[in-house]
Amino acid sequence: RGKRAFIAGVADDNGYGWAIAKSLAAAGAEIIVGTWVPALNIFESSLRRGKFDESRVLPDGSLMEITKIYPMDAVYDSPEDVPEDVKTNKRYAGTSKWTVQELVESVKQDFGSIDILVHSLANGPEVSKPLLETSRYGYLAAISASSYSYVSLLKHFVPIMNPGGSSISLTYIASERIIPGYGGGMSSAKAALESDTRVMAFEAGRKHKIRVNAISAGPLRSRAAKAIGFIDMMIDYSLANAPLQKELSAEEVGNTAAFLASPLASAITGAVVYVDNGLNAMGVGV
Ligand code: NAI
Repeated sequence: RGKRAFIAGVADDNGYGWAIAKSLAAAGAEIIVGTWVPALNIFESSLRRGKFDESRVLPDGSLMEITKIYPMDAVYDSPEDVPEDVKTNKRYAGTSKWTVQELVESVKQDFGSIDILVHSLANGPEVSKPLLETSRYGYLAAISASSYSYVSLLKHFVPIMNPGGSSISLTYIASERIIPGYGGGMSSAKAALESDTRVMAFEAGRKHKIRVNAISAGPLRSRAAKAIGFIDMMIDYSLANAPLQKELSAEEVGNTAAFLASPLASAITGAVVYVDNGLNAMGVGV
């Protein structure tokens, strides 16, 4: 049978999650996704109304099918963690079972197992503030949504992942080089995510034969990136300075994810793979 992939962090057709879903679908995988609760209604209705049909087209001309869309909020592990104001918030009250633990229980009930886990989500409420102006709340919120969310997802999913499976997350070079404007503890969150990729590669590899890798992606005009506010500047900077002077397409990241999830990458784990037109290799702007 084909492989089954769960992709966390798809809420429109502009981001890396969507592109990864497409590349995995093109390679024959069954696609199930997790969508942030507040974005769920609009995503489902847009999909139903055919708004994404053009971007659903796969190389063979067929349309990508998403077998099931699960509501999720990756900052909560179980119902006991959800504060009262969120529980009663009208964007949350209409759906249920969206904490990580409940989500994975539902996937287990519906499908039994998965082969591929993709974490393509991040959030930092103070991302536009320099680190030296970031509050403890903002810093910890960035880490919770962007780093621990991955530890929690993999921790809960790994028992239902088939041996030989693969887990992938998305990171950004701001973890290791200074990128002014990527603030609020988001640079710290990406550093944690990359370190956790190595440690979880060891633990999940030894215990479950699961590979764990990260893609350090170049700039893409996604919804999340537009919210940060400097994305056009980063794209221009890359065009001017990277070894490959072309705009990065989400599909190039999607294809790398498909490779990393495939048996072609059977000896690759604990790696951070750059998909950025080579910008990371430059020492100075030119
Ligand atoms: P995106 O907006 O398509 O994806 C982010 C997703 O995270 C959204 O669907 C949002 O609804 C979801 N989300 C936020 N908080 C959540 C929560 N608590 N629970 C569940 N879902 C939540 O944007 P993009 O840029 O494709 O982001 C995907 C990943 O790629 C992120 O990890 C991001 O940091 C990374 N990345 C993006 C780059 C870019 O230039 N766009 C560059 C390098 C990495």
